[in-house]
Amino acid sequence: SALMPRVDHMRSTLNMQEQAFTRGQPETGANLADELEDLVALHGPQNVAAVIMEPVAGSAGVFVPPKGYLERVKAICEKHGILFILDEVITGFGRLGKPFAVDYFDINADIITTAKGLTGAVVPAGAVIASEAVYDSIVSAAPDEAIEFFHGYTYSCHPVSAAAGIAMIQYYHEAGLYDNARAMAPVLEDALHGSFDASNPYVVDVRNIGLMGAIQMRTPPGYGPGALGHAVMGHAWHNEDLYVRFTGDTLAFSPAFLVSEEEIGLIMERVKRSIDAVAPKFYAKSQGSA
Ligand SMILES: Cc1ncc(COP(=O)(O)O)c(C=O)c1O
Repeated sequence: SALMPRVDHMRSTLNMQEQAFTRGQPETGANLADELEDLVALHGPQNVAAVIMEPVAGSAGVFVPPKGYLERVKAICEKHGILFILDEVITGFGRLGKPFAVDYFDINADIITTAKGLTGAVVPAGAVIASEAVYDSIVSAAPDEAIEFFHGYTYSCHPVSAAAGIAMIQYYHEAGLYDNARAMAPVLEDALHGSFDASNPYVVDVRNIGLMGAIQMRTPPGYGPGALGHAVMGHAWHNEDLYVRFTGDTLAFSPAFLVSEEEIGLIMERVKRSIDAVAPKFYAKSQGSA
């Protein structure tokens, strides 16, 4: 596009015909990684600098990577000498019950971007983590007397953010937050899939991995995507003391790592009541106008 010239996109792995209501990683879809081979053949491997992706696409609506997909993308990158960059702004620092998604999926990345969980989001901070090979090649190419690994933001290395990051990393370990996220992941899975299945007239998919999940609602006829999502969010906020994030008509969940089983149950009850209160009105209206 004009905003991102010389960038190609790979297709989303979300395939509701094959994957709807899958618990965890879908069985099908790893073959979509092979589209990277086509792009590499089109441009020539020497012209492809990097592949960047979220290991689990978060704000797009929690798209869980099919089994083997990330591994295959990584293998193609390695084969052609292309850097494999993972955006772990959401998955980094415990969201999948391991420190990073690379730990969860047991893969390597050349560069990882991270932010939110780095400071528990109490103070803004982001970080780029590079492999030794990437670091060394940048440092050895830098002119003498120059800052070798330069990253020039106004607030680079801000001491408050650095202190918050150090404190948060200690706290993750002291409070066992990764362990709790890992223990609560199957609880969230059961709560999501136990509350919403294919028999629900308002829901077309439920997805989950680690301590993140999503309920994709059916977009009512006559409405654009997002009208129902917004209404359910508003209902939950005003009537259930619950804030639910939505993207289009997909409700996304990423509870705090210290969440309890009881709280996950409460979240699902409140979401269910909100959908049941709001969705029938949308369908009645769209039938009335048909
Ligand atoms: C996966 C992912 N990457 C990057 C960003 C943007 O991060 P920042 O605001 O630190 O630039 C977000 C923001 O929500 C995100 O979810």
